[in-house]
Amino acid sequence: MKFSSPVFSLGLLASSVGAIQVNFDSDESIKAAASTVAFGLARFYTGNNTGDTPGNLPDPYFWWEAGAMFGTLVDYWFHTGDDSYNAMTTQALLHQVGDDRDYMPTNQTRTLGNDDQGFWAMAAMSAAENNFPNPPPDQPQWLALAQAVFNEYVDRWDEEHCDGGLRWQIFQFNAGFEYKNTISNGCFFNIASRLARYTGNQTYADWAGKVWTWLEGHELIDSEYNVFDGAGIVDECATHDKAQWTYNAGIYLHGAAALYDYTNGSAKATWQTRIEGLISRTREHFFDKDTGILVERACETFGNCNNDQQSFRGYLMRWFGAAMQLAPFTYDTLMPILRTNAAAAARQCTGSPPASQYRGPPGTACGFTWTGSFDGLVGVGPQMSALSALQYTLIKKADTAVPATALTGGTSVGDVNAGARDEEKLVTFDPITMGERVAAGFATSAIALSLIAAVVFMMRDETEIEVRMEKLEGEKVVKWGV
Ligand SMILES: *[C@@H]1O[C@H](CO)[C@@H](O)[C@H](O)[C@H]1NC(C)=O
Ligand SMILES: *[C@@H]1O[C@H](CO)[C@@H](O)[C@H](O)[C@H]1NC(C)=O
Ligand SMILES: *[C@@H]1O[C@H](CO)[C@@H](O)[C@H](O)[C@H]1NC(C)=O
Ligand SMILES: *[C@@H]1O[C@H](CO)[C@@H](O)[C@H](O)[C@H]1NC(C)=O
Repeated sequence: MKFSSPVFSLGLLASSVGAIQVNFDSDESIKAAASTVAFGLARFYTGNNTGDTPGNLPDPYFWWEAGAMFGTLVDYWFHTGDDSYNAMTTQALLHQVGDDRDYMPTNQTRTLGNDDQGFWAMAAMSAAENNFPNPPPDQPQWLALAQAVFNEYVDRWDEEHCDGGLRWQIFQFNAGFEYKNTISNGCFFNIASRLARYTGNQTYADWAGKVWTWLEGHELIDSEYNVFDGAGIVDECATHDKAQWTYNAGIYLHGAAALYDYTNGSAKATWQTRIEGLISRTREHFFDKDTGILVERACETFGNCNNDQQSFRGYLMRWFGAAMQLAPFTYDTLMPILRTNAAAAARQCTGSPPASQYRGPPGTACGFTWTGSFDGLVGVGPQMSALSALQYTLIKKADTAVPATALTGGTSVGDVNAGARDEEKLVTFDPITMGERVAAGFATSAIALSLIAAVVFMMRDETEIEVRMEKLEGEKVVKWGV
């Protein structure tokens, strides 16, 4: 299913006065809306243009967000059957694997965080679960790619500080090495849970349990199922950055649902309780009481969500979808929420920005906020989030089209020994650049440290935390810009 451009434009002209109309009782209607939004999303991508690098989004998008986008497109194909973007997705997912087939390509490795790597690994895991067409046998395979990243996370588990947990950054010379963040550990938890379910290998489930226990022990997930951003090792993770982001709640929800599906008996009951807790707290905290619309509270309220943050709500929608598939008891709760938000998202996809900002057809650009009409804030994050809200409403109750496992038709080939050691990567860095980076790293780490220390005195409200987050993000911008 692929639109030829003239038909596409005519169809849009005919309905350009209104927003994208969706009838949620009709799969065809949902698919048509999703295809319009997906087309606009794909037009942000330049990596398949001659001379450009497959897998990369143009500035200002960071590498990780491209991984998130291809993960979304893998699911887009699974739920809609539209294979228009499969070729470019396969090309991107394979081009970025790196020499060690672990999503640490040389161009990114030095500045890579565990979370950056994780979003690509989760895309590969989705490809395995969805039976996305397998690469030729001489190429890396989806399952083995996810296992490679899992194995590296295991190596990086750091018991020296805070009794465990993954640090945000992989290498010491990067700002954020002193910070254990919930999203990096969430990537570990999410991938480990899904590997357990896919392969039936209990080792993965044990690691997932260990990550969850560590987060609970340090109250990064508290007894009310608030999921906080992270903690610095400066005081052994005693002090938290209490900002809450939609994607942090979602990434654990998905992993918990995979473990709910995988386990039996009392373990299943435990994961059910956790799923219910996460959903209940997520609804309370992130969804507007009156309208039921999802709000990225920590920044949307202040109108200052950065590019990364503008994409987070889409992942919550993605992981609501996964929860409905893997833990069907959540369906009756989650589907109405998804539909409300998909309708709100579609309603505001009416923008006609200049081609320098949006290359989809006029009248189809999605803005960021779903609480009103088109807000003019266009980009990969807003477009991808609207697509996610729409495409996961295609999931059916007690669907038979659930993510596959090795026992239920999954065909991706794994390798339990995939991955490489970080020390080996370090020695491949050019020594001069390495020296410069270590020098620069101390300066930036000091700044990050003082910021994390400052949060001790600044935990009064989310605005202040947000200011700090912006600074940390700024650090990351500098880091990536080098
Ligand atoms: C890149 O991929 C998109 C989506 O499949 C396609 O429309 C476009 O023609 C491709 N561009 C090139 C140069 O291949
Ligand atoms: C790394 O960057 C070079 C130069 O821009 C590019 O040619 C190459 O394709 C990139 N490799 C990856 C894996 O992105
Ligand atoms: C759960 O029970 C089923 C059915 O008895 C069994 O096949 C499966 O191996 C069990 N799973 C685990 C993780 O013990
Ligand atoms: C299970 O996974 C662990 C961790 O990667 C691995 O060491 C072990 O060999 C796997 N077991 C089987 C039977 O594949």
